[in-house]
Amino acid sequence: MNAMSWIEKELDILAGESLERTLTDTAASRSLPGHLIRGEETLLDLTSNDYLGLSRHPDIADSMRRALLEECGSGSTASRLLSGNRSPYRELEAELADWQRKEASLVFANGYMANLGTVSALVGRGDAVFSDRLNHASITDGILLSRAEHIRYRHNDMEHLEHMLRRSGKARRKLIVTDSVFSMDGDSAPLHKLVELKHNYGTMLMVDEAHAEGVYGTDGEGLCHAMNVHREVDVIMGTFSKAFGVYGAHVTGSRPLISLLVNKARPLVYTTALPPSIVAGIYRALGIVRTSHDRRRHLRELSGRFRQRLAQAGLNVVPGDSPIVPLIAGSSGVALCMSEALQRHGIAAPAIRPPTVPAGSARIRFSLSAAHTDAVLTKAAECIVSAAAEAGVLA
Ligand SMILES: Cc1ncc(COP(=O)(O)O)c(C=O)c1O
Repeated sequence: MNAMSWIEKELDILAGESLERTLTDTAASRSLPGHLIRGEETLLDLTSNDYLGLSRHPDIADSMRRALLEECGSGSTASRLLSGNRSPYRELEAELADWQRKEASLVFANGYMANLGTVSALVGRGDAVFSDRLNHASITDGILLSRAEHIRYRHNDMEHLEHMLRRSGKARRKLIVTDSVFSMDGDSAPLHKLVELKHNYGTMLMVDEAHAEGVYGTDGEGLCHAMNVHREVDVIMGTFSKAFGVYGAHVTGSRPLISLLVNKARPLVYTTALPPSIVAGIYRALGIVRTSHDRRRHLRELSGRFRQRLAQAGLNVVPGDSPIVPLIAGSSGVALCMSEALQRHGIAAPAIRPPTVPAGSARIRFSLSAAHTDAVLTKAAECIVSAAAEAGVLA
């Protein structure tokens, strides 16, 4: 008997349920901003999280190139706790703390590792984490790694959260954790109410700003700043892989918090530091994000008009004001059909299926960028309505 034969059976089951995933070769279009190339085709890119269109910004690439070729070389050679903590880190972390108006900041290799390391450093056995049901998988995995009790509250349901908080008297430490903008729904967390509950029940509060940094806040600081609750949020996490157009992540808060993470966050301690060229690119991107007021305004206007056009055509779009505009299809099969129909209309937009989203709520996730123009998105909205009709998605 072949001990690995179960894998093919497992893959057959996934394919039978329209849940199999495959990797598709993709390149960014060099001549058309906001477009990508698949095989022979150039498609409108409504897939990427390049919210400010910075992923091809020449100044960021130039900073990376200089650090790579003239200053630091290709690799960081070790964990940050050994010899990997090269000079660009200190400057970047000081700038991040200044931007977020907090005491200190710590850069991680990516958002997944930042969440994994932070949650598992803050809580352990005997503690409780209150987590929105639709939080990102990296938060869920951090809770699993921590061995704390995982208490999931219904999405954005503050009455349910309060009910759970009331019942959890015995836990040693308590942490509420939420995405600020939900990655697959594009709606946002009720941060004022979360702050109130944090105070009333004496919990820590952590907010994942992966999809909000660069997009919300006067200088792109995120939704906590836009809603003026940043002082009350103990732990702010964000990624550089989305609006920054680079890679990596940060956790920002008090000095003791950052010292704790340096000592206890396993995905910081037990991994090699990001290459210095990436850190240099993030540093340059931060300067651009802080001053990208026009890009933010353009993106907000595009998102409002695009959402309105789809809703007026009778499509079931999730309400919100972020550049993430999901169109609910229901079954995974219908969502896949719709994604294929969109590709025939020249649009790349992924079918998001369980387990990424709850069963029965498979969807197309449209993700907009400041690199798009209103004319392109007006045309795209017409194509989307046609593709929805072809796939049977019209309400
Ligand atoms: C809400 C949220 N948190 C964390 C992450 C992980 O970030 P990264 O892609 O930098 O690992 C993502 C995206 O993938 C996300 O959507």
